[in-house]
Amino acid sequence: IERTFSIIKPDATKRNLTGAVNAVIEAAGLQIVAQKRIRMSLPEARKFYAVHKERPFFGELVDFMVSAPVVVQVLEGENAVAKYREIMGATNPAQAAEGTIRKLYAVSVGENSVHGSDSVENAKIEIAQFFSENEILPA
Ligand code: GTP
Ligand code: MG
Repeated sequence: IERTFSIIKPDATKRNLTGAVNAVIEAAGLQIVAQKRIRMSLPEARKFYAVHKERPFFGELVDFMVSAPVVVQVLEGENAVAKYREIMGATNPAQAAEGTIRKLYAVSVGENSVHGSDSVENAKIEIAQFFSENEILPA
């Protein structure tokens, strides 16, 4: 059994789409084993997206992530990392497949509603940034 880290981003929390996103996650067979609504701090957002710090959109990305509350989650299931990437859809909603979270709900490549870890290795690092092990409660 595998875990991945998810963020429901400000564009989605602001439009009251937390439950709608969670419905897609649960329908895909992933279990939400930890979840909290937080306001990310600027240092937290910079640290989380540090791999993108040289990219031209880094400032915009970080400002967006601290602009409103986000919901951070741990998702558990078989092949959770790949499965979540699949149901999230492409980074740019214009390229996202039908039925994916980003196709359904994303506004733009920047305001794209969700984050999901891109590897099992990164999932572990990202989960540890926001959750302690005793906050993660599988059924
Ligand atoms: P994440 O799950 O959020 O990591 O998305 P991803 O893995 O599909 O995309 P990537 O890691 O390449 O980029 C991280 C995030 O940066 C994206 O989800 C977008 O929110 C943002 N981003 C990527 N490209 C652009 C861009 O051209 N403009 C802006 N404003 N944001 C971008
Ligand atoms: Mg990424």
